[in-house]
Amino acid sequence: MSAVQVVVAVPRETREHERRVALVPAAVGKLTGLAGLQVRVEPGAGAAAGFDDAGYAKVGATVSGEALDEAQLLVGVQPPTPEQVKRLAEGAVTISYLPTGAELPLVRALRDTGRTSFAMELVPRISRAQGMDALSSQAMVAGYRAALIAAERLPRFFPLLMTAAGTVPPARVLVLGAGVAGLQAIATARRLGALVSAYDVRAAAAEEVRSVGADFVELDLPPLEGTGGYAREAGAERAARQRELLAPHVAAADALITTAAVPGRPAPLLVTEEMVAAMKPGSVVIDLAAESGGNVAGARPGEAIDVGGVMVWGGRNVPSQLPGQASALYATNVANLVQLLVVDGALAPDLSDEVLAGCCVTHAGEVRHAPTRELLEKEGG
Ligand SMILES: NC(=O)c1ccc[n+]([C@@H]2O[C@H](COP(=O)([O-])OP(=O)(O)OC[C@H]3O[C@@H](n4cnc5c(N)ncnc54)[C@H](O)[C@@H]3O)[C@@H](O)[C@H]2O)c1
Repeated sequence: MSAVQVVVAVPRETREHERRVALVPAAVGKLTGLAGLQVRVEPGAGAAAGFDDAGYAKVGATVSGEALDEAQLLVGVQPPTPEQVKRLAEGAVTISYLPTGAELPLVRALRDTGRTSFAMELVPRISRAQGMDALSSQAMVAGYRAALIAAERLPRFFPLLMTAAGTVPPARVLVLGAGVAGLQAIATARRLGALVSAYDVRAAAAEEVRSVGADFVELDLPPLEGTGGYAREAGAERAARQRELLAPHVAAADALITTAAVPGRPAPLLVTEEMVAAMKPGSVVIDLAAESGGNVAGARPGEAIDVGGVMVWGGRNVPSQLPGQASALYATNVANLVQLLVVDGALAPDLSDEVLAGCCVTHAGEVRHAPTRELLEKEGG
């Protein structure tokens, strides 16, 4: 181990509605034990996720209001503020979500102060990086939660019940978008006994949907495969045709859960107001994509609105609704990434490593992430 220990700082998240924390005590223990790092935590950093200061102190972290000052590594959930970045040591490294398109002033600040920044959402989806894949771990939480909200808000049973007082048919749940969140929503709704069907534009999704016990909705449309196992954006004509073909399936559903996304693009509009209006009164719609443009017309992040007797619930930071376990999973993702950055007790990110190269946004005064660099150039640098 080097003489000077690397100081890792965990801030108290300051953004509205964020209840998670980047490192939970168990992950702190892993880093101080394995990588020999020193961890400093801001007071109350884990409070909203159910982790008190004493729990951090017990695993050897220092709890201090000065946690960020001269720290070499900041690990956060949401992007740091430019003020937080200023407090770090020269050449410090940051790890957090970093939606660069929405955070250009921060990207400039990170670049111009020579900070190295890594964006959790840019970690490549390759097998070696699965343990660092926060998109997956948090989407899993959101999918589970979406199914439970649907079950709780729907004014009827999910399961089939055969009783002396009569037979209750199962609720019909339709899931649109069967990636990580969608598959978890399907599995959860199935465990509650609902009859579940699902649709996705990727060809591979049909088998994945069936493997978790749902019917795949076959539409007479070609698949839309992009690169890296992701979907591609549909042209206007195909999107309209998809809506048309899905309309009867939506109308027949008691609960609709939408999770569709295309990387780097606003969420596709899958369900129009007319399609919602055609659902039975009392039906529920859970739009997990509400924050990124919405799969359902009219869905508003963080709100449950009534559209002609149908409740349309728009997700907003849904993983934060299970803050303790979402944090624990995220913390494991972060701790695994940190271990990749630390060589012999010193911070030495090898940017020729595929994982680090993929998620590095700024380094040594440059923006390394090409789409962000192009965006900045368009905005005047
Ligand atoms: N480490 C890995 O190898 C790894 C990890 C996680 C996910 N993956 C893969 O990445 C892919 C995407 O997963 P994700 O959950 O991050 O996806 P995502 O959040 O980007 O999108 C959610 C789903 O929406 C679907 N979608 C997009 N446009 C649609 C439309 N118009 N209509 C219906 N559905 C639409 C996508 O195909 C995707 O399944 C999957 O193939 C998944 O298996 C790989």
